Amino acid sequence: MSFDILVKGGILPDGRQADIGIRDGRIAAVEPGIGGEAGRTIDASGDLVSPPFVDPHFHMDATLSYGQPRINASGTLLEGIALWGELKPSLTQDEVKERALAYCDWAAAMGLLAIRSHVDVCDDRLLAVEALLDVKREVAPWLDLQLVAFPQDGFYRDPTAKQNLLRALDMGVDVVGGIPHFERTMEDGRRSVTELCEIAAERGLMVDMHCDETDDPVSRHVEQLAFETQRLGMQGRVAGSHLTSMHSMDNYYVSKLLPLVAEAQLSAIPNPLINIVLQGRHDTYPKRRGLTRVPEMLAAGIRVGFGQDCVLDPWYSLGTGDMLDVAFMGLHVAQMTSPADMRRCFDMVTTESAAIMGLADYGLEVGKQASLVVLDAGDPVEAIRLRADRLCVISNGTVIAEREPGRSKLTLKGRPAYADPRFRLPSKPDA
Ligand code: FE2
Repeated sequence: MSFDILVKGGILPDGRQADIGIRDGRIAAVEPGIGGEAGRTIDASGDLVSPPFVDPHFHMDATLSYGQPRINASGTLLEGIALWGELKPSLTQDEVKERALAYCDWAAAMGLLAIRSHVDVCDDRLLAVEALLDVKREVAPWLDLQLVAFPQDGFYRDPTAKQNLLRALDMGVDVVGGIPHFERTMEDGRRSVTELCEIAAERGLMVDMHCDETDDPVSRHVEQLAFETQRLGMQGRVAGSHLTSMHSMDNYYVSKLLPLVAEAQLSAIPNPLINIVLQGRHDTYPKRRGLTRVPEMLAAGIRVGFGQDCVLDPWYSLGTGDMLDVAFMGLHVAQMTSPADMRRCFDMVTTESAAIMGLADYGLEVGKQASLVVLDAGDPVEAIRLRADRLCVISNGTVIAEREPGRSKLTLKGRPAYADPRFRLPSKPDA
């Protein structure tokens, strides 16, 4: 057999050791000890070989705009929205595109090869929509960019949001978004969920709504989203992003809500870095974490994918495009510390998020698109612990990024010359 690329000796996320043969942009073989010729052989001995990272919730129109025109002084969601509103009139298509493409370069280096980005449609010029549609076309050979029409200022609250959202969908935006908790009344929020789901159903599109991104324990838009998903027969095609109010809801109500969410096959996309930073800002002490009920949703059979939401923008002053940072934070805040739970956190930034985005061609199986990441770690938990270096990133059968493993040179008398952060436990507890 001959391959374009042969990745030798890697360890798959499920613990199997296997070589991966790549031909014509596709995975041609996954098994131990593959022989034959290859245009290039990559030695991944003892390294984790994973399908690419997937970010199911991002804002690429705002990324890398930190500090423009000023910094979010209160650190709240609402000041972030106001700040973005101040920046919007001065945006140009070229500038949005330039920032987005710069971020996509970072994503390539991080092995982040699929991103669902919301794009604000509350600007009559729709220049961010045009810019991100351009970016989507440009990066398509190596990065799967899915766009969500997002009425940031409210589907009803903003006077032209509805017509702009429909225009954006006509232009080719993939998914219908919403922000019911930001409408003027709970009733307007409820109606917006209904109308937006109807628009998506009519056009055969998926839905991904910012939903109940508040600390309000009586916010009820997730319930409405689950109801509309059922009513319109959209099971499996709808996601609720954030769902932070669920953190603060009455436990009895949640015991009724979770089975409804599961029944509607509504996916959940918490954003741990942003939720822990933005929520609980009106609390003194004890201060709520705000992250939605991740372990409880998983136990109820609800699909959960962790998103990143923001990198260097009006809402978040940090970030690198590293989905392992997201998994690391999610693991801590949700207290998912058992070996099995930690493994699940890795799945939530890879396979689970790919399923939420509907990426049918994703995964390390024969016939799928040949996209993968070689990580400087032995298994998914170690990858999260180390936020491991991406030694090699392959997209659609082409190597797009490479990196030497990071090591610190030590100058301590009588100690080794290099510190190897890849300290492995001699035996690992069973997952
Ligand atoms: Fe968001």
